[in-house]
Amino acid sequence: MLKALALLFAILLIAGCGSQPAQTQANGPVSFAKDIQPMLNQNCMPCHAGSADSKSPYVVTSYAGVMGNGKDSVPNVLPGNADSSLLCQMLKAGTMPKTGPLAPAKIDLVTRWVAQGAKNN
Ligand code: HEC
Repeated sequence: MLKALALLFAILLIAGCGSQPAQTQANGPVSFAKDIQPMLNQNCMPCHAGSADSKSPYVVTSYAGVMGNGKDSVPNVLPGNADSSLLCQMLKAGTMPKTGPLAPAKIDLVTRWVAQGAKNN
């Protein structure tokens, strides 16, 4: 009986560690089409439009572009890994947008979208 209880406790402990932060669940899934793309269109143009007056080879006008890379061969979004994604790192550091840092709520939205798997949803 004691052994069974100890086992149950261990399982609960492991399950608890693997679960998502409460905030992600409370705020629900982030949509690329509804939340992310409009925000990028508003804040990253014309520098990341892939047009003649763009300042960077990183184009954020489509899902494929956002998932792609800029001047090196490393993708700027690593699904499920916001900490290692250059996109999130730059927004968090305030390096991008070049014109001034985004509002914390917008940075949080992008971070959560990447953490949730960076889906084309
Ligand atoms: C006023 C112009 C400007 C705006 C606005 C801007 N950027 Fe940039 N961005 C640049 C320039 C120039 C570079 C390349 C040089 C550098 O890295 O400093 C760059 C580079 C980047 C890179 C690295 C790309 C690579 O080469 O891998 C990322 C990621 C990025 N920007 C994200 C964003 C996002 C997301 C936004 C909007 C929320 C944004 N930027 C807004 C000018 C801008």
